[in-house]
Amino acid sequence: MGRKQLRILVTGGAGFIGSNFVFHMLKKHPDYHIICLDALTYAGNLSTLKDVMDNPQFKFIRRDIRDRNAIDAVFTEYHPDIVVNFAAESHVDRSIENPGIFLETNIIGTSVLMDASKKYGVSRFHQVSTDEVYGDLPLDRPDLLFKETTPLHTSSPYSASKASADLLVQAYHRTYGLPVTISRCSNNYGPYQFPEKLIPLMIINALNDKKLPVYGKGINVRDWLYVEDHCKAIDLILHKGKDGEIYNIGGHNEMRNIDIVKLILKKLNKPESLIEFVADRKGHDQRYAIDPEKIHTELDWLPETMFADGIEKTIDWYLSNEDWWQETTRTNYIFI
Ligand code: NAD
Ligand code: DAU
Repeated sequence: MGRKQLRILVTGGAGFIGSNFVFHMLKKHPDYHIICLDALTYAGNLSTLKDVMDNPQFKFIRRDIRDRNAIDAVFTEYHPDIVVNFAAESHVDRSIENPGIFLETNIIGTSVLMDASKKYGVSRFHQVSTDEVYGDLPLDRPDLLFKETTPLHTSSPYSASKASADLLVQAYHRTYGLPVTISRCSNNYGPYQFPEKLIPLMIINALNDKKLPVYGKGINVRDWLYVEDHCKAIDLILHKGKDGEIYNIGGHNEMRNIDIVKLILKKLNKPESLIEFVADRKGHDQRYAIDPEKIHTELDWLPETMFADGIEKTIDWYLSNEDWWQETTRTNYIFI
């Protein structure tokens, strides 16, 4: 892809990873136009974007990716070169309670975006997917990792909806020749993550001296990546990735939930007695672990933030941005 003033449509840009991606792109490519489209569901927060609202290269529009007419009008008006689809219902527990909206947003919404991308001839449609499409790995087989060729084998309505979207993206590539890429990343952490997810929830509960609910025995393993490293990987895929390809993103950083929770308590100088073991998540995936060899060898990507530094930065961010999480939990958390 040659160097030009690209117009990039970022969907879900008022959420956790999407907003970090917007910040990264405006900084790294100050000549690009970033059009951020978000429905502002409970997980989207306009105040997250306040620092870039006045940037002339940035435009926010409130739209729903399920709304075909609205999306068509966006493409007519902004004619993006590239679409990066972060917009999704993203929380596994919510998908177990209410699967329907996950199917609508994550599957139908993705197809609406791809229909417009096809009609208006974008040069790349990038689908932000997840390692959860591979299902889980056993705890006692540390030798096993998810590769791009690992069969899809989903556990929750969330992961099934993301896998369905991936299949549709591949179908649009094969059937219509839509230039697509897919990235499948492991668990992200960092600033602006909605406090329903493990790390921000535990930080905020600990700060409030509230109980820290650990599912089951806390021995499930996740593979953590600092959000900025994920954003840099997507940027690389947009510029150097090959059409039709899937790229796994992860930094070989597997940790048990209970160890993360204890680390957070230690950093905040709070007692472990705040931990409360609660009923396990239904269908709880045991272990995720990404093999990032392909993106490393083909695109020269490597994570830059070690977990020890990333978790420090993340805790500091939540300590210094109480206004953000107070507001977001007050206005949005009730939807759970
Ligand atoms: P998030 O829940 O923080 O943000 C999702 C955003 O999408 C919100 O701003 C929300 O308002 C918006 N949105 C939801 N439905 C919409 C709709 N119908 N139309 C337009 N906008 C809508 O999610 P996140 O954690 O930032 O995840 C972003 C993407 O990355 C998702 O596709 C998710 O599957 C994927 N992902 C997340 C992680 C992770 O650890 N959080 C890891 C790998 C992949
Ligand atoms: O792997 C990528 C995925 O990571 C993304 O696709 C999802 O969008 C994202 O939400 C995340 O899914 P997880 O289910 O792994 O994340 P969550 O933060 O919900 O949970 C992490 C682990 O912590 C998981 O094993 C469940 C456990 N947990 C979670 C919460 C919210 C608890 O023990 N207690 C909790 O209160």
